Amino acid sequence: MQHQVAAIGGDGIGPEIIAAGKEVLDAAGERFGFDIAWTDFDVGAERYLSTGELLTEEDLRELSKFRAIYFGAIGDERVKPGILEKGILLAIRFHFDQFVNLRPIKLLEGAPTPLANKGPEDVDFVVVRENTEDFYVGIGSRFTGAREQKTLEVVRDLYNIKFGLDVETDADEIAYQIGVVTRPGAERVIRYAFDLAAARERKVTSVDKANVLSDVYGLWRDVFNQVATGYPDVATEFTFVDAVTMWFVKNPEWFDVVVTPNMFGDIITDLGAMIQGGLGLAPGGNINPAGTSMFEPIHGSAPKYRGQDVANPLATIWAGSMLLDHIGEREAARAVLSAIEQSILDGFVTRDMGGAKKTSEVGRYVASLVKRA
Ligand code: IPM
Ligand code: MN
Repeated sequence: MQHQVAAIGGDGIGPEIIAAGKEVLDAAGERFGFDIAWTDFDVGAERYLSTGELLTEEDLRELSKFRAIYFGAIGDERVKPGILEKGILLAIRFHFDQFVNLRPIKLLEGAPTPLANKGPEDVDFVVVRENTEDFYVGIGSRFTGAREQKTLEVVRDLYNIKFGLDVETDADEIAYQIGVVTRPGAERVIRYAFDLAAARERKVTSVDKANVLSDVYGLWRDVFNQVATGYPDVATEFTFVDAVTMWFVKNPEWFDVVVTPNMFGDIITDLGAMIQGGLGLAPGGNINPAGTSMFEPIHGSAPKYRGQDVANPLATIWAGSMLLDHIGEREAARAVLSAIEQSILDGFVTRDMGGAKKTSEVGRYVASLVKRA
């Protein structure tokens, strides 16, 4: 059996961690009887700086031929923040309509957690982050002066109607950003969360801020309640995003599947990463069940460590395990996750986890464990 998989190393430590991840996935193929044909895409800061291209039509057309993309990281100190993030990472998520951002929060045996008195049995849930709506739709503007006077007036009107205040007429700088929730957009991701919960511990927690942002997240809650009626065996719960940050720390064992709009999902999964052992151990999958999905560590490109072979490859290897699961290699996926856990127990880890091993050494070691699985 051969699987075609696209790979984007990207910037900073990206190429090194993807190299380690590929080595492990190839080892899994050897052990479990499949072969991965990798196609590398040269996307990232280097190309952007020399050609001005982020993602071309051609890139998107080629990527669309794959069910899975293995993605390292993007971000470079020579490029203004936001350009590569929006032009590459978010562009892929949106173009391929990867509406689920699946982020397991699972403390592995031996991994360090800052939570006192909590162990692997307590920290084991999944965040299903909506990935194509909310404040990420990119509808917004910022202006100074009279250049877009008309729009400025509209925004002022909205502001005045809402608060009955008179905005100073010489206040000439204003910005707004719109969060969008649609019924079908919310429904498909909430349904995904319920299906997942039905196969786990049968509980779904919605994280939102419907007490303040009541239009967008009021709709979100209505859809949640409606979807829930189809799953009578699944328990449900609503929490506000501010409160959930406390509960993640105090009672992580309460959670099974957490479903949340895009921006809150971004925020709470960094917290989730920390309680599962740090950003070096947090993977994610950007999933379109019927299209092209993308698997990546949730951390960034850490440009200052570029080329030093010191970055922790475990989040990327774990993302590789999710990729294998997605393409139907379930046994191999489980073996990769066990091998990650074993390497931590053996103390065979990088500096950030208190070890002395190199990126490439950890990759080789995990690969060797997978071959023996
Ligand atoms: C993440 C990142 C991205 C996001 C950035 C880099 C655009 O923080 O994957 O969590 O906000 O989604
Ligand atoms: Mn993030």
